[in-house]
Amino acid sequence: MVNNNNSPKVYIETYGCQMNVNDTEVILSILRKEGYERTENMEEASIILVNTCSVRDNAEQRIWGRIEQFKPIRKNNKGTIVGIVGCMAERLKDKLLESHEVDLVAGPDSYRKLPTLIKEASSEHPQIDIILSKEETYDDIMPVRIDKNGVSAFISIMRGCNNVCSYCIVPYTRGVERSRNPRTIVGEAREAFRQGYREITLLGQNVDSYFWRDKETADDDVNFAQLLEMVAQIDPMLRIRFSTSHPKDISDEVIYTMGMYENICKHIHFPVQSGSDRILSKMRRRYTREWYLERVAKIHSVMPECGLTTDIISGFCSETEEDHKQTLSLMEQVGFYYAYMFQYSERPGTLAAKMYPDDVPPEVKTRRLNEIIALQNKLSLKSNENDLGKIMKVLVEGTSKRNAEELCGRASNNKMCVFPDRFPEGFTSYSEFEIPGIVTSGKINIGDYVMVKAVSCTSATLICELV
Ligand code: SAH
Ligand code: SF4
Ligand code: F3S
Repeated sequence: MVNNNNSPKVYIETYGCQMNVNDTEVILSILRKEGYERTENMEEASIILVNTCSVRDNAEQRIWGRIEQFKPIRKNNKGTIVGIVGCMAERLKDKLLESHEVDLVAGPDSYRKLPTLIKEASSEHPQIDIILSKEETYDDIMPVRIDKNGVSAFISIMRGCNNVCSYCIVPYTRGVERSRNPRTIVGEAREAFRQGYREITLLGQNVDSYFWRDKETADDDVNFAQLLEMVAQIDPMLRIRFSTSHPKDISDEVIYTMGMYENICKHIHFPVQSGSDRILSKMRRRYTREWYLERVAKIHSVMPECGLTTDIISGFCSETEEDHKQTLSLMEQVGFYYAYMFQYSERPGTLAAKMYPDDVPPEVKTRRLNEIIALQNKLSLKSNENDLGKIMKVLVEGTSKRNAEELCGRASNNKMCVFPDRFPEGFTSYSEFEIPGIVTSGKINIGDYVMVKAVSCTSATLICELV
């Protein structure tokens, strides 16, 4: 590995989901082996990469805007290569090359080939590799972490998706589902823990369908619940999160495993998309409102304190006012503490684009989305108010954005907590919290666990005291 100031520099921007963030880390690892160093200054980069997202039209529009901005750099610094990688590379390869503004296009399964593609790329000979694989999982690649806090790390446990929800482009950009060898997942988590990371998020489009079978021995199958347990057993000081769970697939075994291990965080991101059975069926989500609510009840029966968050789409094809009201009522019934909320954006080539007209007028989509957002704000505040007075264990992630004398970190249920950055002089902790690994006096460092009590809140944050 070459690492000096003459090393070629790579500048990379990342859009889209957490899996893309992790892919950027994989790309950096592959390029570092070839002697590339990362830079945050695109002017000094010999290669500019954009790891892209296609999930909604506005995500793609932003990237076209960025490509426009790279034009002068590409002209002035002769030899600077601009490469588009990720989901949009997969979906819009021809259009990207036809624009004559990019030198390289590589899909999500082509990153091992990046060094070769970069060597051969020039504006006269743009390089392209977008073949989706049935096997690629970047199993043996130890990602170069790009998060700044050094406390939480992402680990992809699978790639692709077999679900084909009718609105969704992901199965087309990321290909079929493949699970990664559990031994390499556990190895990566162990190594992250050794480096000081204290929280691992296991990533997949549908983590509940994780399944590993050794091709040679054809036994020792590992499902998601078993994988969770394997990672949880690495060390009680290592917290585990995961994303995303599909409501049709989350099993009782997963819920019980979460309940059994203190270090598996009590939070499930549980995208519902709509509260109307008619719309859920058109979306091909393959669960009903009743099924979803039953899963929520099961989760809460095993883990009453489990935080739930969700994704919601407003204005899907043929959605009526009544369908929309059912979404609002489901949100209230569950009481999500946070939601990612979107207007439906038709994606070319998906089942919905082929089968259903995108017939909810834009102003209706926007109005419904605004109602969903307003309700969610109320629910977030209510959920935080419910936590007032509760004592929670928090992993310290960094300094609070608003006040340099405060720290922030997340409780097990994933809620953001802010609290003073040190214990008062002469502070003696409550003996009931003398738990190994919990800081109880003196200075607090990033990566420590502390116990806090929520004393006030906004809809986004719990304001806490150290206890
Ligand atoms: N695999 C995850 C979702 C990945 S995409 C799951 O099944 O839950 C993240 C979110 O983007 C989705 O949950 C959905 O709410 C939203 N989304 C996907 N396609 C969309 C589209 N065409 N228009 C609007 N939102 C969309
Ligand atoms: Fe898209 Fe559905 Fe797969 Fe999620 S489960 S990535 S929404 S097709
Ligand atoms: Fe976007 Fe691809 Fe993720 S489309 S949401 S970056 S899987």
